[in-house]
Amino acid sequence: MKEIPIVDLYPQHKKLKKDIFKKWKKLCNSSSFVLGSEVSDFEEEFASYCGAKYAVGVSSGTSALHIALEALHCRNRNVTTSPFTFIATAETILHCGGKINFKDIEKVYYTINSDQVASSVSSSGVIIPVHIYGQGADMDSIMKIALEKNLTVIEDCAQAHGAEYKGKKVGTFGDAGCFSFYPAKNLGAYGEAGCVICNDRELADLMKRLRAHGSKDKYYHTEIGYNYRIDALQAAVLRVKLKYLDEWNQARAANALLYSKLLSETPVTTPKIRPGSTHVFHQYSIVVPKRDALSDYLGRNGIGTAVHYPVPLHLQPAFSFLGHKKGDFPVAEELSSGCLSLPVYPELKDSQIEYVCEKIAEFYEKKG
Ligand SMILES: Cc1ncc(COP(=O)(O)O)c(C=O)c1O
Repeated sequence: MKEIPIVDLYPQHKKLKKDIFKKWKKLCNSSSFVLGSEVSDFEEEFASYCGAKYAVGVSSGTSALHIALEALHCRNRNVTTSPFTFIATAETILHCGGKINFKDIEKVYYTINSDQVASSVSSSGVIIPVHIYGQGADMDSIMKIALEKNLTVIEDCAQAHGAEYKGKKVGTFGDAGCFSFYPAKNLGAYGEAGCVICNDRELADLMKRLRAHGSKDKYYHTEIGYNYRIDALQAAVLRVKLKYLDEWNQARAANALLYSKLLSETPVTTPKIRPGSTHVFHQYSIVVPKRDALSDYLGRNGIGTAVHYPVPLHLQPAFSFLGHKKGDFPVAEELSSGCLSLPVYPELKDSQIEYVCEKIAEFYEKKG
């Protein structure tokens, strides 16, 4: 059996390169590299795909979170989020001068525990639900709390392009939804890119200015902003790929279903889908005993795996100033020590999934 990497981006490139290179040739010939009509067309198409009024393309998922936080005036406010996420979610809270307030995650779906949020969050704060691994957080409860306590809601959708919560796309529940188009994401560029979606015209205009040094018209600056502009070359890739996103998400979900079926007799805990929601399986992450030994065993058998994430944010040295200790968020900590992501990319074949599951079963038969 050929090696099975954790992610393989080549099959998509092979399929789409003719269309992408055609667009790139046109852009190169016109020297139109940054923003421009390719970007505004992508913004329109992505907003419409999500069911939002506006989309603002930016240079990464991190810059998307940063300008959303800044445009929604989060400086000096408490910003509640999960410690079980990629660091950018919490880093950007500090970049914009907010105060981090971590809350633990749910045991079954790994998204922020809304009961803990309800009992502790102060009014007029901010919440960033993270739709981790490709599944929406408990948005009914979060939006109820937000309404009661006058919270600003910024959804971190970096891993959940196209995921639906009760029939509505993630990113459209709160004030803004932030996406990453890092190459390995469900919708990935050929470099760094990101985007914020929202339904408020003034907010979208402000974010458009903030991404370009606080200017609408070149060399006239109304705010102190950033260079967070998105490349036209990336927008071109994203426009070609967007047409396939639903098909790819369905293939990921089918792969996940097959894994869960084949692993049902093993000591592995497989991911659960929230009733009424769709899961787009950016990651198919299982929770396993003897995680590191299993990962080594799979590696020796040509199977790539990854750990998302080995240390929850509250225990990272970078956040030591918050004064957290082991035991503060036990669900996130337990998940960090047992989670293991398996290859789930859309082009994965059933025979490859069967092989991965055989090797997992074999490992537990041998190791007990
Ligand atoms: C949950 C989450 N938020 C934010 C980001 C940041 O996105 P980017 O890498 O495009 O800056 C990522 C990227 O992996 C992510 O997974």
